[in-house]
Amino acid sequence: MLRILLSGACGRMGRQVAALAGDEQAQIVAGVDVHPENGAAFPVYPSFSLVEEEADVIVDFSRPEGLGALLQYALAHRLPTVLAATGYNESDLRAIADAAKEIPVFRSANMSLGVHVLRTLARQAARLLPDFDIEIVEKHHNQKLDAPSGTALMLLDAVSGPDTLPVFGRNGRTQKREKREIGVHAVRGGTVPGEHEVGFYGPAEVVTLSHSAQDRSIFARGALRAARFLEGQAPGEYSMDDLAAAMIAKK
Ligand SMILES: NC(=O)c1ccc[n+]([C@@H]2O[C@H](COP(=O)([O-])OP(=O)(O)OC[C@H]3O[C@@H](n4cnc5c(N)ncnc54)[C@H](O)[C@@H]3O)[C@@H](O)[C@H]2O)c1
Repeated sequence: MLRILLSGACGRMGRQVAALAGDEQAQIVAGVDVHPENGAAFPVYPSFSLVEEEADVIVDFSRPEGLGALLQYALAHRLPTVLAATGYNESDLRAIADAAKEIPVFRSANMSLGVHVLRTLARQAARLLPDFDIEIVEKHHNQKLDAPSGTALMLLDAVSGPDTLPVFGRNGRTQKREKREIGVHAVRGGTVPGEHEVGFYGPAEVVTLSHSAQDRSIFARGALRAARFLEGQAPGEYSMDDLAAAMIAKK
């Protein structure tokens, strides 16, 4: 049984991870959440400094604001860490890279294997269709804080070239689209768990690649797989590319 310390344990994603851990031969030994709630089958602490249980790996679905305390704990206890929160800034990313010199750190703005396939195909399509205009559209529920989504930024990165000019929405623009532009657009409403579309618009044809999450369990399952993958890995930064490569190598 893989023993997990779950950060953001009382949030929407934290609860999903807790509900599905058993399916992936894992057990949540404790949780950390700035707003701990009763009802979990494991103790939930308001800060890492109070955790007493021993774990094999940390899984984090909290917020970037908690990164400092989380990495401090992970480094002190030499714990592999899966970072699934989104919205990290440049200084967060530097702190993650520094920590990864000492412990294995897995990070992905989208833990779904389906989205990983979308990203791989979008990257290939961008290479094969260099003259097509690319536009990315994402849709999420009305509680989401960050926009555009971390996944949209990940897709933007996958289809960008050296001259790409990202354009986030076109409000107020009074000029024609430049060839090197990639538009990124965010829709917010209702309870949509997450939809992403990468459109390639050519002279007389359109190719659309899309992924639709039907519920949040796909992210939780991916994070649990990532946690298992990290067991026994050397220090370093790992991503869905590494998890997918390990899965293909096993087949
Ligand atoms: N990587 C992925 O595949 C993926 C998928 C879905 C959501 N997310 C990201 O995961 C994060 C959580 O999403 P959610 O929908 O569960 O949000 P949520 O608001 O429902 O849950 C976040 C939880 O974290 C807690 N929290 C906030 N700051 C904290 C801190 N400093 N330390 C510990 N706990 C803290 C909150 O009290 C809350 O219970 C977001 O960043 C979201 O964008 C990532």
